[in-house]
Amino acid sequence: MARVALVTGGSRGIGAAISVALRDAGYKVAANYAGNDEAAAAFSKETGIKTYKWSVADYDACVAGIAKVEADLGPVEVLVNNAGITRDAMFHRMTREQWSEVINTNLNGAFNMTHPIWTGMRERKFGRVITISSINGQKGQMGQANYSAAKAGDIGFTKALAQEGAKAGITVNVICPGYIGTDMVMAVPEKVRESIIAQIPVGRLGEPAEIARCVVFLASDEAGFITGSTLSANGGQYIV
Ligand code: CAA
Repeated sequence: MARVALVTGGSRGIGAAISVALRDAGYKVAANYAGNDEAAAAFSKETGIKTYKWSVADYDACVAGIAKVEADLGPVEVLVNNAGITRDAMFHRMTREQWSEVINTNLNGAFNMTHPIWTGMRERKFGRVITISSINGQKGQMGQANYSAAKAGDIGFTKALAQEGAKAGITVNVICPGYIGTDMVMAVPEKVRESIIAQIPVGRLGEPAEIARCVVFLASDEAGFITGSTLSANGGQYIV
């Protein structure tokens, strides 16, 4: 029986590549999205992957959304916490809203999605929780005190939960992409983006499919011994 995978932020950017790669690997995939109806409709039409709209920043919406996915496809066995936003600003100009929006989506979103699914994974004695953090959660990034804090939080969340899940057959891992050629990175001012690319030893931005392959690997039944790990995929920009 095909396993069920739920990918948050799964209709655009890295998330879309993850949804497609999991589908191609034989999973029944549900792609969550928060805002862009047009992109989600186009994604569904192109891939045949069903999309579900709710905000991962809203716990009650996550509970309701997960229930709908599970009614359609069956219990979620692979959860990919990918949804993320940026509200970049130098700290002296950062507003409380910019801080809270990023923490609510990028860190609280991982709690809001994992918490309702966790008990079922424990009962079924199988689960894969894969969270997409960032190179900037590892090294910190000027202009991103909010984002770096949230993404570092995702790494700590993973390390703690991995220890709780191990006896129940649940692995919990985090992937730290470097700069990938998505809308999020293309929104960075060109001059800054060029200076970032110059810091990447492989000499280019990453591709969404390169992150998706990491997810497929960690999601597989064969990856059961890998838990609590941080997988960096950043072209050598930051080596830990
Ligand atoms: N790398 C190097 N220098 C940077 C930088 C970066 N990432 N971000 C800002 N700077 C530098 C600018 O070049 C500028 O330097 P100079 O004064 O020498 O010209 C200085 O910091 C101030 O920057 P701005 O003039 O742009 O200041 P601003 O107040 O107009 O804008 C900002 C500030 C909104 C933070 C803007 O600089 C910005 O968007 N920077 C990019 C921040 C960034 O790296 N975001 C990553 C987004 S991609 C992502 O998050 C995905 C992921 O996980 C990797």
